[in-house]
Amino acid sequence: MLQNLTLPLLINLILMFTTGKFVSSCIYKEVGDKVVIPFGGENIEAYKELRWSHNKRRVYYKRGLHIKLNEFKVDQNESLILENVQKDKSGEYNGIAYNKNGSLINSIVHQLCVQEPVSEPMVIVMCVEKGVNLTCKPMNNESVVSWMKNGIKAKGTQAVLHVSSSELKSGDKFSCTVSNKISQKSAKDVEPVCSDTGSHATIASEDEEMEIQKICLRRQQGKQ
Ligand SMILES: *[C@@H]1O[C@H](CO)[C@@H](O)[C@H](O)[C@H]1NC(C)=O
Ligand SMILES: *[C@@H]1O[C@H](CO)[C@@H](O)[C@H](O)[C@H]1NC(C)=O
Ligand SMILES: *[C@@H]1O[C@H](CO)[C@@H](O)[C@H](O)[C@H]1NC(C)=O
Ligand SMILES: *[C@@H]1O[C@H](CO)[C@@H](O)[C@H](O)[C@H]1NC(C)=O
Repeated sequence: MLQNLTLPLLINLILMFTTGKFVSSCIYKEVGDKVVIPFGGENIEAYKELRWSHNKRRVYYKRGLHIKLNEFKVDQNESLILENVQKDKSGEYNGIAYNKNGSLINSIVHQLCVQEPVSEPMVIVMCVEKGVNLTCKPMNNESVVSWMKNGIKAKGTQAVLHVSSSELKSGDKFSCTVSNKISQKSAKDVEPVCSDTGSHATIASEDEEMEIQKICLRRQQGKQ
């Protein structure tokens, strides 16, 4: 009775494994990590031939008990082990198993993305006409940036945040955070002061006005 119930279920499972080529989203890891790429089969005893490939290049091959190629280690569960992983190990991993009759019984695909942790960014202040441009550096194509103004999340998601003089009050503090899938770091706050801003902003105190005038003066002197 039990067998009658489990057999169709097993066949279904095997069909799912053989037909459904499931591509998962990336497994994100940091450079230097140990990574286990799971094979995930339940019936490992039935595996008579096993192949692992990385970006379509074969990296592991076992037939019966004979390991014929092992560029990578494989554990008891036929999962691929990558010690001290580097960026060149990113990409697609494909594991395939056949039974003793040569039928495909398991096939899996995993994407691995190896990233370096982001470096601590800095906000570069550049006074421009009618405001200030803040640039978050360094950035690379794997990271995203977010901005904070006075401790509150600001709108920008680009490396350069333009703040118009009308949005900029004296004492406003800005910071950016750079993150990728494995890390995130924030810059120290900057308090941009631009002469253009100074003349348009409401001046809180005479001291500040003096300060701004000094800055304008310094700028003019700098230009000469
Ligand atoms: C192999 O899989 C079993 C069952 O999922 C698990 O308990 C065991 O820890 C795994 N062995 C290794 C070396 O990962
Ligand atoms: C292998 O093939 C034989 C004959 O076709 C069949 O009886 C047996 O069940 C098969 N074994 C597996 C593991 O598929
Ligand atoms: C990011 O840039 C590097 C080289 O600078 C390149 O090799 C890589 O493919 C790029 N990644 C993306 C997701 O564009
Ligand atoms: C300032 O930022 C704006 C918006 O990103 C950009 O269009 C403009 O070219 C920048 N100005 C300078 C001088 O870099």
